[in-house]
Amino acid sequence: MTQQVKDILGHVAQGQTLERDDLIRLLDISEENEYEALFHAAYEVKKKNVGPVVYFRGLIEISNICQKDCLYCGIRKSNPKVPRFRLSIEEIVQAARWAHDNHYGSLVLQGGEIQNDNHSQYITDALNQLHEATNGELGVTLSLGEQSPQVLRQWRQAGAHRYLLRLETSRQDLYRQYHPEDHLWAPRLQCLDDLRNEGYQVGTGVMIGLPDQTNADLADDLLYIKELDVDMIGMGPFIPHGDTPLAHHLDTFNKDAQLQLGLKMLACARLLLPDANMAATTALQALSDTGRELGLQAGANIIMPNVTDPKHRRAYQLYDGKPSLDENSEQSRMGLEKRIAGIGEKIGYGLWGNSPRFKKRAPKA
Ligand code: 5AD
Repeated sequence: MTQQVKDILGHVAQGQTLERDDLIRLLDISEENEYEALFHAAYEVKKKNVGPVVYFRGLIEISNICQKDCLYCGIRKSNPKVPRFRLSIEEIVQAARWAHDNHYGSLVLQGGEIQNDNHSQYITDALNQLHEATNGELGVTLSLGEQSPQVLRQWRQAGAHRYLLRLETSRQDLYRQYHPEDHLWAPRLQCLDDLRNEGYQVGTGVMIGLPDQTNADLADDLLYIKELDVDMIGMGPFIPHGDTPLAHHLDTFNKDAQLQLGLKMLACARLLLPDANMAATTALQALSDTGRELGLQAGANIIMPNVTDPKHRRAYQLYDGKPSLDENSEQSRMGLEKRIAGIGEKIGYGLWGNSPRFKKRAPKA
């Protein structure tokens, strides 16, 4: 191991914060023993701040209908090959009931971005009915794109607590490169601010390993996320999708390198925001069968097992090779339990699992 990496990790262990150059050096790591030292350091910080406990968020993919046209995304508006669907409220309630019966503390409702009254009301009705069916015991995270403060307030009042909105990248010219002209970075940032004002626990993140993105950019992303002072982090590696304008990147795509970069980012994020909740995303699992466990070992503490009926999953492919397309919720839960026990961690069943970062911020009652 180089002296430089040893020094950086030594400083972290003494409680010093990471600077930009330190982060770049850690993201540049390519030697086996340096990886291990980084993941070990991140895991120590995780154990101390959030514990070796995984929280499950039952993921319900409510709809793949999307008004946006992000160049990397498989469910972008102008991909005509995707059959579009929207779950009925009954289907959402049924998935929520399953999650509740299986002692998942929280749900995530995720879907394409739609801004209209009909959609806002559909989500509000779904929230009201799923809470009614589960005695209001489930924590609910929404991941439904940019919305107005009024809509965010309506959903908050219907019992949503957390919201995930990825910044995608903090480098504005890169954002421009991968989005159509009318998708602007500043309103997205404004929405993160609105979410906080409306009383949500806020999560954000970036795509890792986009073409033309450097490790210095990723270091800046991490520092930006820290500055935003979020409660939750959801970020994962970019994986090209064959029916998007970025399909040509499939030719040169290096799964292993992308996985390693994703894991290094998780580890650095854990070192930088010790008490935030951080997801081991499905994109990690798409790159390796054990991707999510590796994510936990690199510092993540949240997993979002899909609890949607498998019949709709094929249509919800943001990237190629999305795993578990045919596995039902029960099979997925049992598989995960085994794997998590295998790395010596516990599952926080029946708990909301708010991040200590959020608890410290919340005003004392
Ligand atoms: N690879 C990885 N992540 C992707 N997302 C969309 N398309 C891809 C892709 N090709 C991520 C974006 C978005 C989230 C819902 O999925 O970060 O915010």
